[in-house]
Amino acid sequence: MTINSFLARRVLTANPSATKAVTLKAKQLRDQGRDIITLSQGELDFDTPQPIREAARTAMDQGQTRYTEVAGSAELRQAVQHKFQSENGLNYSLDQIQVASGAKQILFNAFQATLNEGDEVLIPTPSWPSYPEMVRLASGEPRLLRCGENAGFKLTPEQLRAAINDNTKWLLLNNPANPSGALYTQSELRALGEVLQDYPQVWVIADEIYEHLRYDDQPFTSFAAAVPELSERTLTINGLSKAWAMTGWRVGYCAGPEPLIKALNLLQSQSTSHASSISQAAALSALKQPHTFITECVTELTRRRDLVVASIQQIPGLSCRVPQGAFYVFVNCQSLLGQVTAAGQTLDTDQDVALYLLEEADVAVVPGSAFDLPGYFRLSYGNALPQLEEAMRRISVACNNLVAGDNV
Ligand SMILES: Cc1ncc(COP(=O)(O)O)c(C=O)c1O
Repeated sequence: MTINSFLARRVLTANPSATKAVTLKAKQLRDQGRDIITLSQGELDFDTPQPIREAARTAMDQGQTRYTEVAGSAELRQAVQHKFQSENGLNYSLDQIQVASGAKQILFNAFQATLNEGDEVLIPTPSWPSYPEMVRLASGEPRLLRCGENAGFKLTPEQLRAAINDNTKWLLLNNPANPSGALYTQSELRALGEVLQDYPQVWVIADEIYEHLRYDDQPFTSFAAAVPELSERTLTINGLSKAWAMTGWRVGYCAGPEPLIKALNLLQSQSTSHASSISQAAALSALKQPHTFITECVTELTRRRDLVVASIQQIPGLSCRVPQGAFYVFVNCQSLLGQVTAAGQTLDTDQDVALYLLEEADVAVVPGSAFDLPGYFRLSYGNALPQLEEAMRRISVACNNLVAGDNV
């Protein structure tokens, strides 16, 4: 018997994480002694703030080492309830809130809990590559709606209306967005919401994990606050990973209609049981911290973003929009396609460009096709400024070393 006949079809047809694959390849090259700068990862280089780490230590020492409630401890859910109320103007009961092992687990469970074969999930792209995979793993059909650079990488109401059919179950809206850094305004969210009011069978997942990482004092409105008429069919997802540099702790949370949260709790009770009790204690501390750390983070990230954007604009063949949120620049590399490397290889695709940058510039980025938008690559500015400066210098040299191909 081969392993493939042993493995389930859903696993055989799933794709591994594209961003993790690039990061892994970069690590392999680094292990061979290459000085690779990894700009492919979805996390910041900051350490989790000290008071949060301290809270986790205290929790361990005080014996918070046992099972908690499936939905998360009542104290943590109260803190989440307060967060939604005070920061987003959203009111939920404790039964409408769930804490899980990361926003990713909530997304996974939400699809498992709601999708039957043939059900469609509308995903504006470029988007996080895990979304379509998670939909497929739940027997659903991802419907990728390409939102080009001219539209600011954002879904338009017309596009949304045209994509809805009888099988549409969810619209998945990531705001601010990975990988584009696009940020929807309140009126843009309302315009999308108004379309959905005509289609009562369509629910909304608002993935707001990058809520706090915004630039230039841009305001943020949670989808459920912008379109309160849809709150009975909106699942709002958020977490600690990005804003509090807590990716490894694995804590995310969500709020939505009670019957849906009940279904998520059922799945969680039969799988992970709940998020780690120690991580829940850390999350509780994070939700009670003043936002000094986040403010400092955003100041530092603004410097990094500005450096990267200014550098890209200087490099022939590359261009980008200025991201308004998250910590990625989505770089247009269409003008490089067709150009030829010193070794005589033609760069035909964004994957070729990413591979060229890895092999020639020792810089790891993720090709845009991984996010369903070829002709781009995503560069994370989660790294410190000196590393970013060096990475941009190397990318510039590599791009300047290309020569025009016959068909350019
Ligand atoms: C858009 C988006 N949603 C969710 C997540 C996952 O967050 P968590 O670490 O809470 O699982 C990520 C992580 O990269 C992300 O980019």
